[in-house]
Amino acid sequence: MNTPQDYEAWYHTPRGAWIAQREFALLWRLLPMERGATLLDVGTGTGHFARRYAAMGLHVTGLDPDAAALDYARTLGGAIDYRAGDAQALPFADGSFDHCAAVTSLCFVPDPAQALSEMWRVARRGVVLGLLHRRSLLYRQKAGRGTYAGARWDDAAAVRAWVAGLEPASTELRLGYAIFLPDGKWTSRVIESVLPTTVPWGGFMAAGLTKR
Ligand SMILES: C[S@@+](CC[C@H](N)C(=O)[O-])C[C@H]1O[C@@H](n2cnc3c(N)ncnc32)[C@H](O)[C@@H]1O
Repeated sequence: MNTPQDYEAWYHTPRGAWIAQREFALLWRLLPMERGATLLDVGTGTGHFARRYAAMGLHVTGLDPDAAALDYARTLGGAIDYRAGDAQALPFADGSFDHCAAVTSLCFVPDPAQALSEMWRVARRGVVLGLLHRRSLLYRQKAGRGTYAGARWDDAAAVRAWVAGLEPASTELRLGYAIFLPDGKWTSRVIESVLPTTVPWGGFMAAGLTKR
């Protein structure tokens, strides 16, 4: 199993940094946030995306059940408030945050619909999800292996079903995809950067939803 240090170190490889940057750009496009707003990052792990959001001027709280990951995240700075907890029963009152994000964390949560409804409850404005996409080449290559072991791979129909149960109802659900090609060479980067995020084959599927 990866230690938090190993997990975070991957983000500092050229490939890891590129993937995280592409994923963050897609998440931001699907749910842009204003400076000074509050954000809960659910399943924050080592806080990599929490720090990216904080760098955009947000006040970020990061939540995760993994005490070792949170301890390591706290050593990495970024003025983030880290809390222990489970996505399926968030330890916050209704409307505690402007926004809520979960980046490749709901794929490890047994009841993602319950987790999304909890995120919807604590968010005043909107929620953004980064998910592993079942209808992708990445799924064929990576499902069940390495850091993907134990992860669930979802599709757009599953996300729509979770969203249909939300109260109050969401505005239009926005979906986008990031494709990462297998060899990871510079030629792949060129192709990855020109492929539109509407092409629904990316291994990373993001969903943005806002409250009416
Ligand atoms: C692949 S890591 C993603 C970490 C971080 N969001 C990132 O993208 O770098 C998945 C995270 O989900 C967390 N997780 C697993 N089950 C969870 C649950 N029930 N509630 C909240 N987070 C959970 C794990 O502890 C882990 O930190």
